[in-house]
Formats: sequence, structure tokens, C-alpha cells
Amino acid sequence: MLSQSVREFIEQFYAEEGGDRQALSLSERLAQIEVAQIESFTPTTAELAFAGRVAWRNSVRCIGRLFWPALQVRDLRHLETLDEVFDALVAHLQDAFCGGHIQPIMTALPQGVRVVNSQLIRYAGYVQADNPALQSPVLGDPDNVQLTQLALSLGWQAPTPLGAFDVLPLIVQRGDTVKLYPLPPEAVHEVPLIHPDHPAINALGLRWYAVPAISDAQLHLAHLRLPVVFNGWYMQTEIAARDLADEGRYNALPRVAQALGLDTRLERTLWRDRALLELNVAALYSFHQAGVKIVDHHTAAAQFERFQQQEGQAGREVRGRWSWLIAPMSPATSPVWGQRFVGQELSPNFSRPPQDWPLKRGCPVHSKA
Ligand code: ARG
Repeated sequence: MLSQSVREFIEQFYAEEGGDRQALSLSERLAQIEVAQIESFTPTTAELAFAGRVAWRNSVRCIGRLFWPALQVRDLRHLETLDEVFDALVAHLQDAFCGGHIQPIMTALPQGVRVVNSQLIRYAGYVQADNPALQSPVLGDPDNVQLTQLALSLGWQAPTPLGAFDVLPLIVQRGDTVKLYPLPPEAVHEVPLIHPDHPAINALGLRWYAVPAISDAQLHLAHLRLPVVFNGWYMQTEIAARDLADEGRYNALPRVAQALGLDTRLERTLWRDRALLELNVAALYSFHQAGVKIVDHHTAAAQFERFQQQEGQAGREVRGRWSWLIAPMSPATSPVWGQRFVGQELSPNFSRPPQDWPLKRGCPVHSKA
């Protein structure tokens, strides 16, 4: 028996992608799947690509969904070794960067392969709590402390001296095998943050990478959960209002305020807000100067409005999560501010694995030098 979720997916694919453009008719394809048994339902490359694009369209947290039809999909489900997977991930990063004209790409990996890193590019976070003279107990990105410890335990050699922006190696797992792969520098493009009017901000040595590529996601397609890696381009608030600004991340606002010569003793001077604004200006300016695509939150919100109009014309409801769609600065300037959304997710979609998804203990570890 054909499962309801497979039938719905195939019907949606034929309805949106035009049955006349497919090798098989809808009923032929449904019959083919039925014969092969539901357990072994394997989407074709075209179905997979469609699922990837619709998963983006259905992503309730994403403000950048206007561009969903442009997602390029790489079907690499057939790769056999982890070394091949690593090479594909490097190629993904390089092609996504595309000389700064960032291309949205999704790479589908073989079933059973897991990239442990949450994004292809992540900065190490080193716990140094034993040194009370330090401003923060973590050097680098506190979000990646566990990943850093895992990399070190697998034999990763951290650079000396340790830095706040050390790119972590990829950790890729299949079954009992876990492999560590340092990324080649040519795959990692970064932008040092500079400010158009306040050179003291440049001296803080803040930087961020160009390509946000989610690497621990699964594509939900009918009953299937397929490991995928996908990227878009940054909206500057992600970097400058969260990654670098959050107290639990790089906590850079006090340093930025100091560089701006602001009085940080009284909250009523709004030094946090002024530092936040200038850090966001710096992120947009630096990416622009470096020729790397980035979007500001006003433009992104206007693009989202166009997406909503288009979806309305197509007769589809736009689902959303307000707290993710609203920008983390100047929120009331956004057209999202006064809107309410249905948050329940449609299929196909993307999901992250549970945070505590464990590595198998005592498994053999290999590392590719
Ligand atoms: N917010 C995440 C970060 O700051 C990236 C998530 C994906 N973002 C994107 N623009 N596609 O790294």
C-alpha cells in the first residue's frame, strides 16, 4: 500500500512541476512506487530537487524565502566514502561562495552520513575558566565549545596561539566511523569587519565568514529523513546583532561601545543600542567592500512581503514563526511587526537533529591529514 505522505508528495510534485514534463505520468509513477514497496521509496533526482526548494519555501523561520525557486540541488546520495563526502562539502562551499555572488545550494548526502558540525564553517570555542583575569570564560564562539572539545579529542591540532576565530575541522560520521577533516583555506572565505567612519572598530579584530551553510539538517520528504547541507547568504543582523553581539556568544557590544568612546556606565545613554547599530553598519559595509553578498534587514523584509504576495497569488498560505522572522534590531520598522502567522510546518521541510544526538562511544576514529 502506498502511504498517504508519499502519495501527497508525488501529487504535489506533479501538480507544481507539470506532469507533461516528466518521463512518467502521475499514475505510472505512483504505480511504480507501489510495486517497489513503500519502504524502498526513493525519490528521483527531480523529486528531491523539488522537495529541497519547497522545504525552503516552507521554512517558517526564514525571511529570505522569496528566492526558493533558485535553490540549486546536488544529488550526491550515491557517494560511497566519507572522503568523497568531504570533497563534496568543500565543493559545496566553494561553489556557494562563487566569488562573492553567493549561490543557494543544497547537497543531498548518502543516507546514514552525518555531519556533526552545525554549519560547514564554525569558529572554535575554548573554555579557559581557570584564568580569572580573562573577560570571558570562553575564547572564541561559546556555541561551539562542545564541537571544539570533540575535534580536539579526535586529534585536531588547534592553531597556536589559540584565536577567537579559528575555523574548526569538519567531523563526519557514518555508523562506527568518525573522521576529522580540516577545511582547506581556499574553501573558507571570511570578511574582517571594518567601519566606514570609526577606525577604532576595525582594530577590534572582529570578522565573520561569508557562507552560512547549515550542515546538520535533515530534509523531511514524506516519511523520509535525508541528510542535507544547504546555504543561503547572510542578513547582517545574524552576525552583528546575534553572533557577535549576544552576551552568550562573542559579547562584542561593550568593546564596540568602548571603541566608539561611549559612556557605558549608564543604561540610559543607550550605549548598547548605539554600539549595536554601528556594528551592524560595519558588517554591511565590510561585506559590501569585500564584494560578498549580504542583505540588510529592511531589504529582506521587503523581499519577504513580495514572497507573501507571490504565495497569495499562487493560492498558498505562508506559514511563519514571528520571533524568527522579526529582525533583532529596530523590529517595529519591519512589515513583519504587526503580522501574525500560523507556525505549524508544512511538508517537505528541513529540521535540525536533537541537540544531544550522540556520537557512538568507543568507535574507531580516523582522520584524514
Ligand atoms: N543564523 C545563523 C548564523 O548566524 C545562520 C542561519 C542561516 N542563515 C542564512 N542567512 N541562510 O550563522
